[in-house]
Amino acid sequence: MGVVDFYDRHPINEEQILAALRRQGRLPGRVTPEDLFDLDQDHYGGLPAVETLAKRAAIGRGSRVLDVGAGLGGPARFLAWRFGCVATGIDLNAGRIAGAHRLTRLCGLERVVRFVRGDATALPFRQGVFDACVSQEAWLHIEDKAAVVAECRRVLRPGGRLAFTDWIAHPRLADGERARLREWMAATTVQTLHGYRALLAESGFTEIEAEDRSANWARVLRQRLQMFRSLREDTVARFGQARYDEYDQLYVFFVGLVERGKLGGGAFDATA
Ligand SMILES: C[S@@+](CC[C@H](N)C(=O)[O-])C[C@H]1O[C@@H](n2cnc3c(N)ncnc32)[C@H](O)[C@@H]1O
Repeated sequence: MGVVDFYDRHPINEEQILAALRRQGRLPGRVTPEDLFDLDQDHYGGLPAVETLAKRAAIGRGSRVLDVGAGLGGPARFLAWRFGCVATGIDLNAGRIAGAHRLTRLCGLERVVRFVRGDATALPFRQGVFDACVSQEAWLHIEDKAAVVAECRRVLRPGGRLAFTDWIAHPRLADGERARLREWMAATTVQTLHGYRALLAESGFTEIEAEDRSANWARVLRQRLQMFRSLREDTVARFGQARYDEYDQLYVFFVGLVERGKLGGGAFDATA
């Protein structure tokens, strides 16, 4: 399955978020950024994970921040709301970008958060225009990770900070398992912790930190599986029972790999 298709049929989507807001009685009416935060974060660890990333990326008031693989824009909105930065989100998926625009307008953050459709391997921005680049659980979908890292370095000002989290492969991850992740979750290639460290160094980043977060991810992912199961009714209504079953099966497989120590997560930061 291609990555655009994967997110076009993802259980977390704009319609599902709006339906949840209606159920909570917040729509119709005035929606605040905080109303969205329980619903719009498509990564592992929720808002505390975005807070940690922001600290690693030295994001503060007025920082110009790029979120690479921004999805529906949850982290970008949170960063602008929490830290007073100006955020740009880029994503390959047109539906994600359209949804990100609408949700941002809905909660009144459109003056400080904007979105652009584009490819992380060829960022449509001039050199040195950002103070920080962040990304969460997006680069697993991108084959040419060296290009993404180089592009982040190019668009960061000298001294700017990159902070991201992503899947990492452990030695026992078998070729057949990698193939299933590619086929089912559009996880094109999975880098190792040391592989990422080397890519960052080759691109000219300094002060590189690479942390293995796999033990924490196992717990977070078990909770996430339950969260996807709690969305069953919405997912079946929108994509059908077969897609719900397929997604559940692939997620159980994915969480199993993390629990068995074959796959995990890394947190990285570096200076341009
Ligand atoms: C797991 S979602 C994460 C979304 C967001 N970071 C969040 O935490 O809510 C991964 C996102 O990466 C995007 N993506 C995948 N490949 C991409 C690429 N080459 N360029 C830009 N975005 C990409 C997908 O479309 C998807 O929206």
